[in-house]
Amino acid sequence: DWTMAEFREAKIADIRAQVGKEKVICGLSGGVDSAVAAVLIHEAIGDQLTCVFVDHGLMRSGEADQVVSLFRNHYNIPLIAVNVETLFMNGLAGVTDPEAKRKFIGKTFIDVFEEEARKIGGAAFLAQGTLYPDVIESVSFTGGPSVTIKSHHNVGGLPERMNMKLVEPLRELFKDEVRELGRELGLPEAFVGRHPFPGPGLAIRIPGEVSKERCDILRKADAIYLEEIRAAGLYDAIWQAFAVLLPVKTVGVMGDGRTYDHVLALRAVTSTDGMTAAVFDFPSDFLPRVATRIVNEVKGVNRVVYDYTSKPPGTIEWE
Ligand code: XMP
Repeated sequence: DWTMAEFREAKIADIRAQVGKEKVICGLSGGVDSAVAAVLIHEAIGDQLTCVFVDHGLMRSGEADQVVSLFRNHYNIPLIAVNVETLFMNGLAGVTDPEAKRKFIGKTFIDVFEEEARKIGGAAFLAQGTLYPDVIESVSFTGGPSVTIKSHHNVGGLPERMNMKLVEPLRELFKDEVRELGRELGLPEAFVGRHPFPGPGLAIRIPGEVSKERCDILRKADAIYLEEIRAAGLYDAIWQAFAVLLPVKTVGVMGDGRTYDHVLALRAVTSTDGMTAAVFDFPSDFLPRVATRIVNEVKGVNRVVYDYTSKPPGTIEWE
């Protein structure tokens, strides 16, 4: 049995031993895992670490700013932030297959990351916030044959291409342990407690074709949903809650007029590691209130549905 304080000390020693005097680059995704990995590595090797944040325009409302300010202002950790929204939106035009989206996003992320890394003179090591369930789930699915359900890895392929070795200090940890380590490292509670967010971001919450317009609609609806969840004091009881913008239009009525707009699905699940999940049961007045707000406030959505599927047989994300 070890405590998080001991784990932190042990990992710092490991990182120093592994890295020596070499430089390390860490890609921040905006999520808890890569942030905790970066802060831990920074504690171990200081300015030998450079963080790169690739803003692909597929983040939730306000999240890119939160990450940048956490690193620059709170920790004073050097951070290169690049906005490549247009590049991603252009490349995603016409792409509808979920794995093709992941492939494009993964590859383009690598291209941008590689270019930024080159600008700072390269590095011998790449740091990633890989967790234990990532290691398991990208290899096989719950003990069955070795089938990849979804290609989860954000920067797979990068180490070989750039001739870098990996630093993955969180490989033995589950999500709740990473959060505990984050608290141990002094990350703000609001950041540590954040729901997991997938690397391909909103692109896999827009079945069918992704566009900036669709991302903007989804961001607005998602922000209202999350705002209501926080206001009701339910955020910490939920593993992940998010909205999905469907490529289906239905008829509605608003005022004197007929509308013909998108359907939005809401999802909320409980889980301990994301490998299995149960549907979150909201108080009965909650979802109708959220649905009314979204339809009234978000132009482009006129119908809201709730997803009652557990994992398995469903997955948490829709793609
Ligand atoms: P699924 O949808 O497979 O999701 O039940 C399990 C957990 O993994 C997240 N997820 C991803 N994370 N890249 C990521 O970094 C991905 O391509 C990806 N797909 C799913 C999902 O949000 C959930 O926490």
